[in-house]
Amino acid sequence: MKYLPELFAANARWAEEMRAVDPGFFAGLAALQNPGYLWIGCSDSRVPANQITGLKPGEIFVHRNVANVVVHTDLNCLSVMQYAIEVLKVQHIIVCGHYGCGGVRAALEGPSLGLIDNWLRHIQDARDRHLDFITALPDDATRWQALCELNVIEQVRNVARTTLVGDAWQRGQSLILHGWIYGLKDGRLQDLQTSLKSSAELDTVIAEAVATVRSRYVTR
Ligand code: CO
Repeated sequence: MKYLPELFAANARWAEEMRAVDPGFFAGLAALQNPGYLWIGCSDSRVPANQITGLKPGEIFVHRNVANVVVHTDLNCLSVMQYAIEVLKVQHIIVCGHYGCGGVRAALEGPSLGLIDNWLRHIQDARDRHLDFITALPDDATRWQALCELNVIEQVRNVARTTLVGDAWQRGQSLILHGWIYGLKDGRLQDLQTSLKSSAELDTVIAEAVATVRSRYVTR
């Protein structure tokens, strides 16, 4: 093996261990995947969906991008969502952000980083929606932390407003959206109380979740 032999060695060990625990594991997965969840998370290497939720291969369908952003023109994210909702029929869509998100910090700080500025613009839209609150926070670290939380809530709103989710709810498909945030320092997930199961609840649930976030911070 010329390149990265350690990764292939680790992979061989892992496959053997999985087979030892369950000899039919790979054969079962090769025939069918039946995940109950779609995860929309940050690409950050420290936030691996399967490990932090204790889920095995086959149990969670995953889409990740910088700062877990859901944009209504992003064919990549929308295609993942369509497959998850219409084919896999996942029961839950989890948008998971994390504290210490570099994408969120870059969006707050604003210096040009090139192409990615266009992506970060979507996080700045989330910031601008709460600009009075964000600017009233006492320091940059607090603003960063609060925007990590509010960005999750805004992206849940975006998920809820896709035609894919609206149509699923319209035809009576059971689908619940959630907004979570992960702590790099303690490895713990926190529910941001944005769980939604119909379009009718959207505005109320999002407003309450935003109010809950705001209430945890002291502003100037
Ligand atoms: Co991140």
